[in-house]
Order: sequence, then structure tokens, then C-alpha cells
Amino acid sequence: MISIKNLVKTYKTKHTETLVLRGVDLEVKEGEFLGIMGKSGAGKSTLMYQIGLLDHPTSGEIILNGKQTEQLTQNDRTLMRLSELGYVFQDYALIPELTAKENTMIPLLMQGLSREEAGDISTRMLAKVGLANRENNLPSQLSGGEQQRVSIARAIAHNPKILFADEPTANLDSVSGKAIIELFETLHADGQTIVMVTHEEEYAKYCDRVVYLEDGKITREFKPK
Ligand SMILES: Nc1ncnc2c1ncn2[C@@H]1O[C@H](COP(=O)(O)OP(=O)(O)O)[C@@H](O)[C@H]1O
Ligand SMILES: [Mg+2]
Repeated sequence: MISIKNLVKTYKTKHTETLVLRGVDLEVKEGEFLGIMGKSGAGKSTLMYQIGLLDHPTSGEIILNGKQTEQLTQNDRTLMRLSELGYVFQDYALIPELTAKENTMIPLLMQGLSREEAGDISTRMLAKVGLANRENNLPSQLSGGEQQRVSIARAIAHNPKILFADEPTANLDSVSGKAIIELFETLHADGQTIVMVTHEEEYAKYCDRVVYLEDGKITREFKPK
């Protein structure tokens, strides 16, 4: 599902160059639940952004779902993000003025679905994440854990090939955090391929495999189960 070869990422600003990824190699199988761990600043988010086509690597190869991504046009990349990839972020990234249902509908509308179709799917997805009776709430009317559930409903509404999550539990208390991880576990049991960055050992246990990013490379891995 994912094949990465010799991925290098350098952030360049006017006077400085920061070499963050120094040649990452990684393979992720279809249906795998992969964890990425490493110290703060190790480059975990950077790696996820490159794999998720949210940024351009300096060099190296990223193959997603059989597609070599380096040759894709901006337009193809956008289409791939909208139709094949889903994202969950630490801060939920919901639009504050829109209800839970409207937030969930957005990527579907961007894909060209009618309001009716997008609305029906969103209702189903919110029920799936346990928010059936919260559709019309604004993010400010939901707890952190509930907001993260909305963001997961939004991320999976179009049935993405790969679900990316960058420290999805970092802002949550342990009870809500565990509930979010259990939701990922359910999605994984249904066959969802998941790539999750986490710094919590406790949550890494739910992954099929965990890789460690150190000094810009994957230095080791282990299988918790
Ligand atoms: N847009 C950026 N421009 C310059 N440097 C960045 C940028 N994003 C991240 N960095 C730097 O890259 C390194 C890795 O960051 P990040 O991928 O966010 O680490 P992690 O997610 O593991 O905490 C850090 O030193 C950070 O300061
Ligand atoms: Mg990060």
C-alpha cells in the first residue's frame, strides 16, 4: 500500500537548512496498522506529511496504492488526497462555524457528491464514531474527544485507502484517548490501513508494527502483538 525509498527532506529558509529525514525506507502493507514513534522533533510529522502528499520531499520515492507520486501534477495530488487518503490531526482541524455534520460533509462535497448524498454518508459516519445525536453541534459544543471523533468521521467518510493520524490522542485525557484508539482498532479490524504517529507507548500497543524514527532514519521496529 505504501512503499518509501530513500526519502530525504530538508527544510530551507533564508539562512538555514534543516535536514530532517536522511533517507527513510518504509513499506506498509494493505490493512496494516503502523505506528511511528520517536522523540519530539525527530521528524514524525514531517514523515507523515510527505507520505500523505501534504508536502513535497527533497528527494526519494513514495509509491501509494501502486502510484508513483513524484510525477503527479498538483491537480492529481489533490485528487488523490481527496479520494484515497484521510487525515486526523492532533488539534482536530474542524471548521468552528460548521456543525459536526457539515464538517464531515466538506471533503465529500469537494469530491463532487450532492448535498443529499454527502449528508447521508455523514450521518452514517457520525453514527459509526458514536455521535449519532450530535450532528448539529458546533465544535465548541463538543468535548475534545468528541471533536476528534468528528474529525475521524470526516477522514473516513470517503472510504480512504490510507488513514493518517498525527498524534490523535495528544490533546485528550486518558479516557478519551483510549476511546479514540479503540475506534482506530475497530476501523483496522474492518481492514483500514492506518499510519499513526504517537508518542504514547500505551497506544502503540494497538499497532501491528511500530517503527522508530531517530536521527532522520528508521532505526528499529517492533511488533507489539
Ligand atoms: N515548516 C518547517 N520549516 C522549518 N523547519 C521545520 C518545519 N517543520 C518542521 N521543522 C523542523 O523539523 C524538525 C522535525 O519536526 P517534526 O516533523 O514536526 O517533528 P516531530 O513531529 O517528530 O515532533 C524539527 O526540528 C522542526 O523544528
Ligand atoms: Mg509532530
